[in-house]
Amino acid sequence: MARTPTLNNEKLYDYTLATWLRDTELKQRLREETRKLTGGGMQIGPDQGQLMALLVRAIGARRIVEIGTFTGYSALSMAEALPGDGKLIACDMSKEWTDIARRYWREAGVDETIELRLGPAIDTLYQLIGDGQAGTFDLAFIDADKVNYERYYEACLLLVRKGGLILIDNVLWGGSVINAEKTDEDTTAIRALNAKLREDDRVELALVPVGDGVTAALKR
Ligand SMILES: C[S@@+](CC[C@H](N)C(=O)[O-])C[C@H]1O[C@@H](n2cnc3c(N)ncnc32)[C@H](O)[C@@H]1O
Repeated sequence: MARTPTLNNEKLYDYTLATWLRDTELKQRLREETRKLTGGGMQIGPDQGQLMALLVRAIGARRIVEIGTFTGYSALSMAEALPGDGKLIACDMSKEWTDIARRYWREAGVDETIELRLGPAIDTLYQLIGDGQAGTFDLAFIDADKVNYERYYEACLLLVRKGGLILIDNVLWGGSVINAEKTDEDTTAIRALNAKLREDDRVELALVPVGDGVTAALKR
């Protein structure tokens, strides 16, 4: 059975970036600035950002909710693909990291498109549901603390419309999901959600083998 080798073959990965990537100079600068930070590796890869932007366009998304924004690369990638009246609600707890994000969003001209909500993401999601916004989102991207992934997924399933897409990042967790010695709470939470989604008939399901693995769950 053929497997995609891009997850672990560095030269081939470089080739895929050189051949398919259409990153802007601004996004490259954001990547460079982020790389210097402690925790800089939390940023999604540029190939993943480009894929997510394509998915935004493919499903004609107008409203997106992102859980876990960091320095803003994933939000920027998706916001650029939204129509002029589109909206992306970005949830994070860190002012320090999202101040960097805001700087780049402003420069890219998407600062009006992206609404940052600082605070625990689960509170923001429940607020959106409480405000009557269930079923109004086209796409949700989950990329924050892993222990809360299941709660984020359930909230996002309420928030997205029928036919809406939920993308969940880091579902392979650097390979820890198949390492029986890894029993920490992050790995356990990711394994549990992966197993739950396998049986979840509320969604169509696929693994996108990009980055650290992305689950795509399409709401039925
Ligand atoms: C993996 S990073 C997100 C990376 C981002 N999507 C990108 O592409 O650059 C995870 C982010 O989740 C945020 N975070 C962690 N726990 C959170 C919580 N309970 N509520 C909101 N944000 C949280 C962190 O501050 C961090 O910025």
